[in-house]
Amino acid sequence: MPDMSTATTPVPFADLHAQYLSIRPEVDAAIADVIASSAFIRGPFVEKFERSFAEAMGVPHCVSCANGTDSLYIAMRALDIKPGDEVIAPAHSWISTTETITQAGGTVVFCDTDPATFTIDPAQISAKITSRTVGIIPVHLFGQPADMDPIMALAQQHGLWIIEDCAQAHLARYKGRVVGSFGNAASFSFYPGKNLGAMGDAGALLTNDTALAERMAMFARHGGLTKGEHRIEGINSRLDGLQAAVLSVKLPYLAGWTLRRQEVATLYYSLLANNPAVTIPVCGAGREHVYHLYVIQHSQRDRLATFLGSRGIQTVINYPVALPFLPAYARLEHVPTDFPVAYGHQSKILSLPIFPEMTVEQVQYVAAAINGF
Ligand SMILES: Cc1ncc(COP(=O)(O)O)c(C=O)c1O
Repeated sequence: MPDMSTATTPVPFADLHAQYLSIRPEVDAAIADVIASSAFIRGPFVEKFERSFAEAMGVPHCVSCANGTDSLYIAMRALDIKPGDEVIAPAHSWISTTETITQAGGTVVFCDTDPATFTIDPAQISAKITSRTVGIIPVHLFGQPADMDPIMALAQQHGLWIIEDCAQAHLARYKGRVVGSFGNAASFSFYPGKNLGAMGDAGALLTNDTALAERMAMFARHGGLTKGEHRIEGINSRLDGLQAAVLSVKLPYLAGWTLRRQEVATLYYSLLANNPAVTIPVCGAGREHVYHLYVIQHSQRDRLATFLGSRGIQTVINYPVALPFLPAYARLEHVPTDFPVAYGHQSKILSLPIFPEMTVEQVQYVAAAINGF
């Protein structure tokens, strides 16, 4: 295991520098290649990453863009969302999932999450579907796939599109099939801390649909695929050559890093299983979790976080306020009883440190601190 002497605390929440050191010569050479060829926007590095990411995920088309948030927006604009169209999304996610619905002209309709898995509760989706519903955005939150079979069945029954939000779930699988291959389109973030992270902002879309791939690529590139030929009005959302080159270096390591995250999670499970004060994460049947985040629940969450902090253990809350209760959605006038599960989780959840380079000793140190609280 790598030397953790670069860590500034006994257990950082994540350690991007340790990952860089483990592949430094390859990353430095890739960056130097981009600079030497001045291929900063689109060009061979971007095209290579799009091909290899699509291939690694087993989906025919990859359209890269500037970040994960843009990818959600681009997908909805390419799916031709209209004012008044309703899109169903989970009450527990990062705000990108829903702010982009509004920006694309649609109306956000929140659905509560499942108490065990934190993902959208399929049993509650039907009640949210109206004559104005056009799509559903399941989020594979924390690295665990949403329950895709019933979600896909509902979409088919009601003629709705699905955009999978895979920002936290690169290589996660549902019933053996990789996430990002189910919906009309799938959105990915390569924010530096993600399971596959760039060295700046970066994002991509996957799709099985050739025509949709073309519309998404056009929209992200000023409405045209050839310079000067603008078939529609679009936006400027491009992956740059430097980020693409870094991502191409990292992609072959993703499967191994995922395995390491799963090993860290397994160790946490065994060390925390007998602590009655801690609710450990639950992975639904048929779902392979990639542990972007390892999220426990504790009734004294804030005190526990302070206690861990005093022992040099960094934790994060993902997220302190569920989406419907943010000031950004005050207009919807939701109350806690509208989304009791997401509301209940917001005061109990705590994300523990997890990253591929984390040592057994670090995991043991975190678990011992929690058990000693
Ligand atoms: C669930 C989810 N969706 C979307 C995004 C947006 O990604 P980005 O930060 O690359 O815009 C994120 C990133 O934090 C996320 O966690």
